[in-house]
Amino acid sequence: MNLNIALLPGDGIGPEVLAQAVKCLQAVEETFNHTFTFKEAPVGAIAMEQKGTPLPEATLSLCLEADAVLFGAIGDPKYDSNPDAKVRPEQGLLQLRKALGLYANIRPVISHPTLLNKSPLKKEIIAGTDFVIFRELTGGIYFGEKKLNEEGTVASDLCEYSEDEVSRITHLAFKAAKARKKKVTLVDKANVLESSRLWRKVVTRIGESYPEVTLEHMFMDNAAMQIILNPTQFDVILTENMFGDILSDEGSVISGSIGLLASASIGDENALFEPIHGSYPQAKGKNIANPIASILSAAMLLEHFGLHEEAWAVKKAVDKSLKKGIVTIDLKSKSHHSTSQVGDFIAHNIVDIEDNFNM
Ligand code: IPM
Ligand code: MN
Repeated sequence: MNLNIALLPGDGIGPEVLAQAVKCLQAVEETFNHTFTFKEAPVGAIAMEQKGTPLPEATLSLCLEADAVLFGAIGDPKYDSNPDAKVRPEQGLLQLRKALGLYANIRPVISHPTLLNKSPLKKEIIAGTDFVIFRELTGGIYFGEKKLNEEGTVASDLCEYSEDEVSRITHLAFKAAKARKKKVTLVDKANVLESSRLWRKVVTRIGESYPEVTLEHMFMDNAAMQIILNPTQFDVILTENMFGDILSDEGSVISGSIGLLASASIGDENALFEPIHGSYPQAKGKNIANPIASILSAAMLLEHFGLHEEAWAVKKAVDKSLKKGIVTIDLKSKSHHSTSQVGDFIAHNIVDIEDNFNM
């Protein structure tokens, strides 16, 4: 298969972790005889420095032309500490999601058997966790009207959803549940928010056309508790933009490190793959950040194009690194490995099982 992949390394550790994902995709290319073409463009704080805007036009057009986008990370502390900054790196990613129509953000959360003791949560609670968050990505409070009065003393962000916006991600969530454990949990705050009541109405109606899937409702505050109290109860969690953002960081605690969680952002025409973690500026350039979230995002990219054996080979190689303890400092305090060492190990261990069924 020929794939044109746009690479957006972004800020902080973005370039370092993305380089490891590219290594792995190149190993897949060789092992399975594909042709992947990579083209790189700036986004975020680095793009603001180089081009004066977090999403330069050339970057957007590269992404629109590509078959898929592989994204590193975004954000720089120098803007976080300045509430008056008019332009922020994060706008690059938000504009990109909107422009590419990436309305569904899919974030799998699993507890890896060899990492059970890395989580601060009890083993008995997290063992067997396997759920996936379907986070709406181009609507809600992230994209509603923002206001600040002239005195700068009153501010608001509007949380708005249309039926269509709810419905398109809901179908994806139910289809995914059908192929999994057949349960969808809609997380909302319908006891307070009008937008949540719309979600409930639309999702309940759509749920009727998936009789094999059970639909459950849960308030966001309770979900925040349930996700660490009894995570194995979940299969597909469907939720709006900001709730999904919060729940997925919380979910990463189950996996043992936020450096492990990958995501796919899907639209009708485009797809982008990125770790759920941020730009981790303290680690920038130190070759210590965990590249696995980025590598698993590349595996989700392969999966998206129906390259199942290839994606499986990448995941197997990741498993091997975890089992052998070839991991970064977030997962191992002593005798840990660097970002590039972990990337090299995983890339070298990508094999075609057809040729290596004895391994
Ligand atoms: C994420 C990030 C982004 C978000 C930021 C960087 C804008 O936290 O992808 O989860 O809030 O969506
Ligand atoms: Mn987030």
